[in-house]
Amino acid sequence: MTYFSEKTILVTGASDGIGRDLVEQLDTHGPQQMILIGRNNRRLEEVAAGCHSETRTESVDLACPDQLDALLKRLEEVQIDVLINNAGVGLGGVFEGEEDAQRITSMIRLNCDAVVLLTRAILPGMLRRQHGAILMVGSLAGWAGGPGMCVYSATKGFVHRFAEGLRWELAGMGVSVSLLAPGVTRTAFFQSAGIDERDIRSGSMSSKEVARQALIGLARGRAIIVPGLRNRMLLMLQGLAPRGLVGWISRRIFAPIMKRQ
Ligand SMILES: NC(=O)c1ccc[n+]([C@@H]2O[C@H](COP(=O)([O-])OP(=O)(O)OC[C@H]3O[C@@H](n4cnc5c(N)ncnc54)[C@H](OP(=O)(O)O)[C@@H]3O)[C@@H](O)[C@H]2O)c1
Repeated sequence: MTYFSEKTILVTGASDGIGRDLVEQLDTHGPQQMILIGRNNRRLEEVAAGCHSETRTESVDLACPDQLDALLKRLEEVQIDVLINNAGVGLGGVFEGEEDAQRITSMIRLNCDAVVLLTRAILPGMLRRQHGAILMVGSLAGWAGGPGMCVYSATKGFVHRFAEGLRWELAGMGVSVSLLAPGVTRTAFFQSAGIDERDIRSGSMSSKEVARQALIGLARGRAIIVPGLRNRMLLMLQGLAPRGLVGWISRRIFAPIMKRQ
């Protein structure tokens, strides 16, 4: 028996990347049921087919308010013990060049609105049962304004503050809130964000390792989980350095993403 055994676990962004690895690793703990959410039904079914535990797939665009509402209604009667708010997208390039306002609002809806609304819908049941765990997926980029991905890093800064506030609001009530803040992780994230992965100079981690460290931290109810020693060192240095220096270094690191036409 482990923390995740016999639990009902909901994972957003379960069809690919970190979310897919979280599901595959959670499966080995013998959960009662996993609810897998993403847009791509074929990939969700593939992930589900690889699991030994009971799964339920929900093909939903979480950035679409109507689809999110309908999902929340379908989940009303489900007792969820562990909520993993993982789904998220990025958007690279200079801010004034991000012409497609719809992509920006869709990213904010997914990275911020859906996280808040799913948590708001699922938390009351956890509080009634006096147990539960919530994982919010932020990013190292959520601690510093990211030149070349200003709006993305702002959405992750939002997730960080939300996770921190909620964790303390719920202290002593049986529900833990953990923040996972990965550094560069090898997934399809960069491609879909329009960023060439080779442009990010910092060392990257595999999504399997990020998921492994995430689940250890989540089971222990850790406040902040930063996978990888290198990322933890970066975060520590960032906390010690003057803000101006952090910005100057970020601009140098992310310069290749800031391609102006
Ligand atoms: N990769 C990194 O370097 C990195 C670093 C720090 C933080 N993160 C964060 O880690 C999380 C997972 O990212 P990843 O690297 O695993 O990216 P990924 O491989 O691109 O996976 C993203 C997942 O989110 C789902 N998704 C995207 N848009 C969605 C929508 N509108 N509605 C529902 N599901 C949606 C995708 O499924 P469908 O396509 O099927 O919808 C997919 O399962 C994100 O929150 C990201 O911000 C990533």
